[in-house]
Amino acid sequence: MKNILLLLISSSLLVGLVSCEDAHARSSDEGTSVIEVDSIGIKVNALLARMTLEEKIGQMNQYNGFWDVTGPAPSEGDAANKYEHLKKGMVGSMLNVRGVKEVREVQKIAVEETRLGIPLIIGFDVIHGYKTISPIPLAEAASWDLEAIKLSAQVAAEEAAASGINWTFAPMVDISRDARWGRVMEGAGEDPYLASLIAVARVQGFQGDDLSLANTIAACAKHFVGYGFPVAGKDYNTVDVGTSTLYNVLLPPFKAAEEAGVRTFMNAFNELNGIPATGSAFLQRDILKGEWDFDGFMVTDWGSINEMIAHRYAKNRRQAAEFAINAGADMDMESYAYVNELVSLVQEGRVDESLIDDAVKRILRVKYELGLFDDPYKYLDETVEKEVIGSQRIMDAALDMAIKSIVLLKNENNLLPLKKNGQKIALIGALANDKTSPLGSWRIAADDETAVTVLEGMQAYKGNTLTYEKGADVVTGETLFPKELTLNVSDKSGFSSAVTAAKNADVVVMVLGEHGLNSGEGRSRSEIGLTGVQQELLETVYKANKNIVLVLNNGRPLTIEWADEHIPAIVEGWHLGTQSGHAIAQVLYGDYNPSGKLPMTFPKNVGQVPIYYNHKSTGRPLDPGQGEVFWSHYTDVSNAPLYPFGYGLSYTTFGYSDLKVDVVSNDKVTVSVKLTNTGDVKGKEVAQLYLRDEFASVTRPVRELKGFELVELNPKESKIIEFTLTHAELGFYDNNGKYIVEPGTFSVFVGGSSDATLTSKFDLK
Ligand code: BGC
Repeated sequence: MKNILLLLISSSLLVGLVSCEDAHARSSDEGTSVIEVDSIGIKVNALLARMTLEEKIGQMNQYNGFWDVTGPAPSEGDAANKYEHLKKGMVGSMLNVRGVKEVREVQKIAVEETRLGIPLIIGFDVIHGYKTISPIPLAEAASWDLEAIKLSAQVAAEEAAASGINWTFAPMVDISRDARWGRVMEGAGEDPYLASLIAVARVQGFQGDDLSLANTIAACAKHFVGYGFPVAGKDYNTVDVGTSTLYNVLLPPFKAAEEAGVRTFMNAFNELNGIPATGSAFLQRDILKGEWDFDGFMVTDWGSINEMIAHRYAKNRRQAAEFAINAGADMDMESYAYVNELVSLVQEGRVDESLIDDAVKRILRVKYELGLFDDPYKYLDETVEKEVIGSQRIMDAALDMAIKSIVLLKNENNLLPLKKNGQKIALIGALANDKTSPLGSWRIAADDETAVTVLEGMQAYKGNTLTYEKGADVVTGETLFPKELTLNVSDKSGFSSAVTAAKNADVVVMVLGEHGLNSGEGRSRSEIGLTGVQQELLETVYKANKNIVLVLNNGRPLTIEWADEHIPAIVEGWHLGTQSGHAIAQVLYGDYNPSGKLPMTFPKNVGQVPIYYNHKSTGRPLDPGQGEVFWSHYTDVSNAPLYPFGYGLSYTTFGYSDLKVDVVSNDKVTVSVKLTNTGDVKGKEVAQLYLRDEFASVTRPVRELKGFELVELNPKESKIIEFTLTHAELGFYDNNGKYIVEPGTFSVFVGGSSDATLTSKFDLK
């Protein structure tokens, strides 16, 4: 992202004007000497030269604005301290300050009261929408619609920017295979290929083409790296991953984000091979800033410098600060470690000042790119704030994204779509009438009680008679963010009215799952079924009326084996944000033909977790038959998941045929397939291509997604879909992190899920 000026002048003229590191000479085609000048670099260096050590370290210090969002309440927060540090130029960034008025208040101090007037960069967790909430990222990933996902990030950026925010701590690009981990809701699922493309879409959506515009914000790829692999799915737990998984599964989405120009990274709470990520020079200096040549900056996760003490890695805050800066963490979020320890660490020679300079240059660069030096108040316009936030355009985008995120999991005897007239419908479940839960857990700027419920969505269809019954609560007590929810619901007094409503209905729609605050940070679960007494409610209602459509509301794959066996229709409705109820109703009534596909495998039971489609073969993959014991399996459940990665139905059906493979060269293989809409209504299908490298110097997964296309077809219409496999898709990383493509035989599978059976083989020489 270097801002380059091309100067066609003799290099000698530049001497004295530009330092060597900001200017690179090369010869043009005409033989003239072309000097590429990093114009932002010049400004950054000039400013840095005027800064004291304390001011430099101030830029590396980030404070929370008002309240504790995800971590312990700040005891030393500057807001509590009447902005004493801010006034002294000892703060480079603030998070959780939002709204034009509040942001102006702190920005004014930075710009008008400090010696150098360096503007703050204002960060915020714009994870899935800002005030208008879009679907949780896992749900958006289920759309496989990169344009829609990009647009969703773009409108979120617009809304946040209108509220004075310059920087989001998103996208989270952590791969996870463990549905117990509450933060799976915040990522793009289990697959590195899909997640990489989504990472790019989100970065482009947030940052746009021009970061200096007042409606774009800097993005942040987080959490670098391994945070999605906590042992036993317990948040903040130890991470233990092998080299091959690190290079081939965890790092690719980060690399994709870096290549898409993401301006910041966030490190992680976890350790990796015994070194906390925040103190890992291997990750931050060698890989990110070395090999990948990343020129933005690295912010720590909340208090993660200090947490190195609890990890029993650093003995105290001082040592933690030393480890973090030496390892390449540029900005300290809420540890108060840099601001308190770095000056003396430099003076005592334990930290080289050049590392401070490097960190500050990175931070200043991003501030220049955002245009904050040209106009620190450019994001601060009350009229824009009023116009943009919650505008119809943004609401429409949230609805569009929500509809596209829904996945149809089962539809026996075409129970769906519902008939629009003359039906008696019973709607059951507390989540069907909850105006907060669909907002999910990352909704700091949204007001409670602002989501459209399924009840409201269905009430918009007037032709049927709709009866609503809660049945049972999903949680008890306060649903107060960020407190733990109470799940021990035992009250079944609402069951009998639910049963009566079901008996009198033609069709029953049940909205069940988990509350929006049951997934997210710190919300790991050891059982991942329907919470509370909802399973019992479902089984009780089923005895009264079997014609049930189950709509799931959840932030992670759930274990719903009983439902899959008994309930005729199941719709995955996630936590879909502000427009949730309209989106779900439109799908139930067939005004939108569902097109989502699962970005994460659904297990049959929690014992199968972690379960993922791109697993390795093992030495004993196959059932030898006749009750054999000694092969890789469970004795009480099959190896198959409930629903595989990539799975999702439509109100129409699709057929795949005519698979053709052409090896053009060792770097280019084309694959084509004929996709036909074999049903009676128009629909969209995600055609997916999976590859298996049959034998390799490092064992490869049984299959890996390497291409997909979202296609819309009219009934009986066909289309030839073409995929091109190149170097980027045909190879893998060896255990030294080197990308290689090996000769040999590959199998290709094409179809509508990771279970695709249409297959062919090809050889690379
Ligand atoms: C989370 C980050 C988040 C930060 C700031 C942390 O607890 O892990 O993802 O960006 O808080 O809110």
